Amino acid sequence: MFLRSRLRLASSAAGLVTVLCGGVAGAAPAPGAAGVGDPYYPNAGNGGYSISHYNIRLTYNPATDLLSGNTTILATATQDLSSFDLDFLLPIKSLRVNNFLAQTRTAAVGEVVVTPQAPLVKGSNITIVVEYAGTPSTVKDATGFTAWKKTPDGALANDEPDISPWWYPGDNHPTQKATYDVSVAVPNGTSVLSNGTLVSTAPQINGWTRWNWRSTKPQASYLTYIAVGNFEIRNAVATNGQRIITAYSANLGDNADAAKASVERTGEIIEFESSVFGDYPFEAQGGVVSPGINFALENQTRPVYSNAFFRAGANTSVIAHENAHQWFGDSVSVQAWRNIWLNEGFATYAQYLWSEHEGEGTAAEVAQYYYDLRPADDPFWQFVVASPGAGNEFNNAVYQRGGITLQALRNKIGDDNFFNLLKTWTSSHKYGNGTIEQFIALAEKISGQPLFDFFQTWLFTPGKPAGGIGNPATA
Ligand code: ARG
Ligand code: ZN
Repeated sequence: MFLRSRLRLASSAAGLVTVLCGGVAGAAPAPGAAGVGDPYYPNAGNGGYSISHYNIRLTYNPATDLLSGNTTILATATQDLSSFDLDFLLPIKSLRVNNFLAQTRTAAVGEVVVTPQAPLVKGSNITIVVEYAGTPSTVKDATGFTAWKKTPDGALANDEPDISPWWYPGDNHPTQKATYDVSVAVPNGTSVLSNGTLVSTAPQINGWTRWNWRSTKPQASYLTYIAVGNFEIRNAVATNGQRIITAYSANLGDNADAAKASVERTGEIIEFESSVFGDYPFEAQGGVVSPGINFALENQTRPVYSNAFFRAGANTSVIAHENAHQWFGDSVSVQAWRNIWLNEGFATYAQYLWSEHEGEGTAAEVAQYYYDLRPADDPFWQFVVASPGAGNEFNNAVYQRGGITLQALRNKIGDDNFFNLLKTWTSSHKYGNGTIEQFIALAEKISGQPLFDFFQTWLFTPGKPAGGIGNPATA
């Protein structure tokens, strides 16, 4: 204690010397980097500062797709900054840094450079307030794509790898997690779903209602969502005491009951997955079903499902997949997008485990089925799971070859090591990030086996692994 305060005195004296000498000893303030260095998406995320919290406060009109309001960002400078970037696509009306108006310019599509009136000092708190208004469905990213999805009665801000630039400014990379308050006012009769806990629904003076959501655990930008529309909302309680909020679009047609018969089992599925993967990492549960998308997404605490998953009746496999992502993807997120196998391979393997739990074929049988499904000359086997390439993260091989790989690993290292590995991975990287190489190293450590060649064959080399998936170890 005493030693520390002496050291602190010494360093502030050094800082004073720097100031008196005109800053010769310190680096001049410099622009924050445009991205965090993800090879697939060089502009994704931002350098030079770190965001801890977003307060997103918006008004949305489903009739016009006009989204307006502000986002307040709490951050800390990680270097002396002359300027910094925000990832954002909507028109900005004004931007303040620590209460003072700041200049903004667009350096590239979705890349806003903010120049405050005075440089920001490393280690200092930064409050950024961005006022904006726009029609997200008309806004395209650098590739010409629009991730925001307008529906007849609302909209979905829901996509991967990118959605945040269409509705709030920020630091859009899975390494840059923060907590969120999301508040959206909509006309009465319209609902807003988002992550975490519904803190309140507040009547507005104009006859609209403001929906206030809060998500209190570290959360990646692409997992932060809103679903706006006419929804039937249900409340339930999970066996661990958590609140389960589910929501069903009024436009599910003949699939409505099959959707409910699937999503209402979320609590049971999370209970099962907790027994395999470790304690559920978040504070709430749920699910939203909408016809406005053609995929499902593992938004933190409360996934969104396309209506199409329930066309042939109940489908709990997709519920098992999206909720497995709460551990694999949401709590433990990719360090860079090329590591997407850590998300999709594992969520797919969770479907195999759930199949076994439901008595519909063991995980080993499901994996063997997918191994046998395609001959060695099928293009499916040519895809390299460990480096899908930008834009190909969701290739089917990342899912199915990725899932088979985990059964092959389980067969190789045995059940005890395998399930210990899954739980150790989720606990040691909880609320953080991971790489495939870190997973391989942990697998080698826990099993005591060299696994480089194994993973080289399964994840890094094109071609159908010749030796098959191996056999489950007999106890
Ligand atoms: N992570 C999602 C899932 O596996 C996939 C999202 C794919 N994105 C898309 N725009 N289709 O459930
Ligand atoms: Zn998935």
